[in-house]
Amino acid sequence: MGRLDGRVAVVTGGASGIGLASVRRLAAEGARVVVGDVDVDGGGAAAAEVDGLFVRTDVTEEAEVVALFQTAVDRFGGLDVAFNNAGISPPEDDSILETGPDAWHRVQQVNLTSVYLCCKHAIGHMRARGRGSVINTASFVAVMGAATSQISYTASKGGVLAMSRELGVQFAREGIRVNALCPGPVNTPLLQELFAKDPERAARRLVHIPLGRFAEPEEIAAAVAFLASDDSSFITASSFMVDGGISGAYVTPL
Ligand SMILES: NC(=O)c1ccc[n+]([C@@H]2O[C@H](COP(=O)([O-])OP(=O)(O)OC[C@H]3O[C@@H](n4cnc5c(N)ncnc54)[C@H](O)[C@@H]3O)[C@@H](O)[C@H]2O)c1
Repeated sequence: MGRLDGRVAVVTGGASGIGLASVRRLAAEGARVVVGDVDVDGGGAAAAEVDGLFVRTDVTEEAEVVALFQTAVDRFGGLDVAFNNAGISPPEDDSILETGPDAWHRVQQVNLTSVYLCCKHAIGHMRARGRGSVINTASFVAVMGAATSQISYTASKGGVLAMSRELGVQFAREGIRVNALCPGPVNTPLLQELFAKDPERAARRLVHIPLGRFAEPEEIAAAVAFLASDDSSFITASSFMVDGGISGAYVTPL
């Protein structure tokens, strides 16, 4: 028996990174998985790998978000888990002194407005079923400041955190749990490339992590599966830190 047998999960940003690892983990625990992403090749491959469904979705477009959740319900009979995870962190989003309004708005659209849209259109289906788990990807930067700023990204993740808390409280007595997942830095190809070129840049970040390394996507996916399952039945409206101890640390081990 898998923890998610008979459950239906939608994962946005499921073509890559944390989303892809979560597609695999949710499916391995028994869920039927629907992948929503703008990346048709990656999203299609992810869904095919787990015998799931791919719906090409730009999460900033309301009609496409509506169609994503409706497809999950039509094809698999309902919606139990919404992992609202798609997000971007483009280089144009930098210090507030450099970041222009276009970059600001784009990041707000993809990282925050998308979560509003996904929650709005997932929760309706969950109310009909009388249960559900919504997991919104925020970040450790929602609770900590960085001198290496990406100002719109940080503000967007703070918004995701506050919105998730409020929805968790509002819908608690309808059996719907809403949590903000706050990953620490994850060992993605992009991060690897960046830090291979500039080891000093990596060292500046690693010194703050008590565990002394970045997370693997599978470690974040394990937390997603936990929050999706009934094992977390008393956890809602939380800022769920999966950050290697960063947010609790002052002086880290040598
Ligand atoms: N990687 C990290 O260190 C880290 C740390 C904390 C939080 N996060 C957050 O985790 C989430 C996933 O990050 P990741 O590192 O796996 O990134 P990633 O770039 O590997 O994957 C993001 C996915 O989102 C998709 N996407 C982008 N824009 C989209 C849109 N408009 N509509 C639909 N899909 C879209 C991409 O195609 C991609 O498949 C993001 O919200 C990110 O902010 C990442």
